[in-house]
Amino acid sequence: MKETNFLIIGSGAAGLTLAVKLAEKFPKKKITVVTKADQSESNTKYAQGGVAAVFDLKEDSFQKHIEDTLIAGDGLCDKAVVEMVIKDGPKRLEELMEWGANFDTDADGELTLGREGGHSEFRVIHHKDTTGNEIERALLQRSNQLKNITILPHHFAIDLITEHHFSEEKPKVLSCYGAYVLDQISGSIFTIKADCTTLASGGMGRVYGHTTNPAVATGDGIAMAYRAKARIENMEFIQFHPTALYDGKNGASFLISEAVRGFGAFLRNKNGDRFMLNYDERGELASRDIVSRAIDSEMKKSGDDCVYLDCTHLDIEEFKKHFPNIYENCFQKKINVEIDWIPVVPAAHYLCGGVVVDQDGKTTLKNLFACGECSCTGLHGANRLASNSLLEALVYADRIFKSISKHLPSRSTISIPDWNDAGTVLLKGSEILQQKTEELQRLMRRYAGVVRNNNDLQKASLQLEKLYFETEALYQKHKLNTSLSQLRNMVNVAHLIIQQSLKRKENRGGYYNEDYNKKNLKGKI
Ligand code: FAD
Ligand code: SIN
Repeated sequence: MKETNFLIIGSGAAGLTLAVKLAEKFPKKKITVVTKADQSESNTKYAQGGVAAVFDLKEDSFQKHIEDTLIAGDGLCDKAVVEMVIKDGPKRLEELMEWGANFDTDADGELTLGREGGHSEFRVIHHKDTTGNEIERALLQRSNQLKNITILPHHFAIDLITEHHFSEEKPKVLSCYGAYVLDQISGSIFTIKADCTTLASGGMGRVYGHTTNPAVATGDGIAMAYRAKARIENMEFIQFHPTALYDGKNGASFLISEAVRGFGAFLRNKNGDRFMLNYDERGELASRDIVSRAIDSEMKKSGDDCVYLDCTHLDIEEFKKHFPNIYENCFQKKINVEIDWIPVVPAAHYLCGGVVVDQDGKTTLKNLFACGECSCTGLHGANRLASNSLLEALVYADRIFKSISKHLPSRSTISIPDWNDAGTVLLKGSEILQQKTEELQRLMRRYAGVVRNNNDLQKASLQLEKLYFETEALYQKHKLNTSLSQLRNMVNVAHLIIQQSLKRKENRGGYYNEDYNKKNLKGKI
């Protein structure tokens, strides 16, 4: 067993920001960050467009950013949270710059601001088209300079420890005492006991298979919190990014940033029609849900596997300057952006819901906090405004830091039992887990994708139940490994998405169910 003061699960923007702040303020306390792959692997690392924040006080204002966020959220944002996050944003970014993150500036040294769908002004600060990589680099560099931060790469958090693990009596409000963690190299499972624990475990795009998210995004933190009985909400609001590069039978993976549409690219169907104008007067810069549904509708009408993003009319030298990573990735796939249209499809990109937290990042469990994409703060409501998520991660890491600093949690004297896997055997071969994972992903794409209906959701629910029992049987019999644990977590997350989708009896924000086509019939979708 290990003991630490502050356990943080995840080393993306949310987790590392919190680690740095705690380490600087409390040099004598131990901060342990567990992360299931290499230190830098995270959704954060792949963020392209940037971070939305009001720096241009001539053209822009907090009020405009607040309004854009509320419009995207379609009536479900918590207004107080929106105001708090947006007003705090510039301070958090300045802090990040002090820690060494570089963002693009013009000849006068002023930040250059991009624009993305749903934003009424240019306000997205960025580092070319690799903003997330730059943020992750700066945060890791800072973290590694601080001696009281221990980052444990290839360590997978399996379950949160609560009274369920050691007591017959269940208090009204459960507490979190740390987590059981799998050392992915040795295969051993050990206990990390912590004064307080923060989930910063990111998103769940992999539940859909076709996603812009890397392999680590399997919704572990949300599943762990769900099993520990924390409140989870808004899971029906999955944001599908309209323009993931279509890669033949591999589906979608690499993101073509919305900033490319902000830069002037057009969406066309195979016949060359610029179809977005038929759906929304904002054309390519309509909000993501509208663009994704328009593409879905075009693909269904034509039977085609993708639509196209046309950049051929843009200044290619400027394009390369702004989007070197996108240009290069396309080039490697034999797409020359100067003359070829880029094949694109919508893909699972971001989860607006998650573990419910208050303005201090506190979950419904004592001594358990959550921040970043795994949390549900009230900022995004029914749909996230582009580039508001890194902002949320930075602001909420700071809120948790301030909350912990005000009321330092103390170490519990309770003794925690070791992980008990007596009677389990090693699972031989990984084919069965791969097969079940693909089954789950197919099911989610087919029945719980961009456009849903109740019949499909019921079918998904029945098929998932079968998968749940099969996965639980594997779990009961075998020693846990990463793939089994991830499958189990993805099944939990899929269950939450399907059940919360069935509960929503309307169309709102990013949620679209063909059976309720009255509210929110924007354009012709
Ligand atoms: P992540 O950065 O995903 O970090 C999660 C961490 O938790 C990872 O280190 C992971 O390995 C670890 N982890 C997960 N489960 C476990 C476990 N069981 N045990 C141990 N460790 C675990 N947002 C914007 O605001 N602007 C953008 O331009 C933008 N572009 C994007 C582009 C792409 C391609 C993608 C995928 C997302 C983009 N987003 C963007 C969204 C944004 O990147 C994420 O929402 C944000 O980075 C989430 O940060 P996080 O710290 O919460 O999670
Ligand atoms: C993008 O660059 O299009 C992604 C921005 C985001 O997800 O916020």
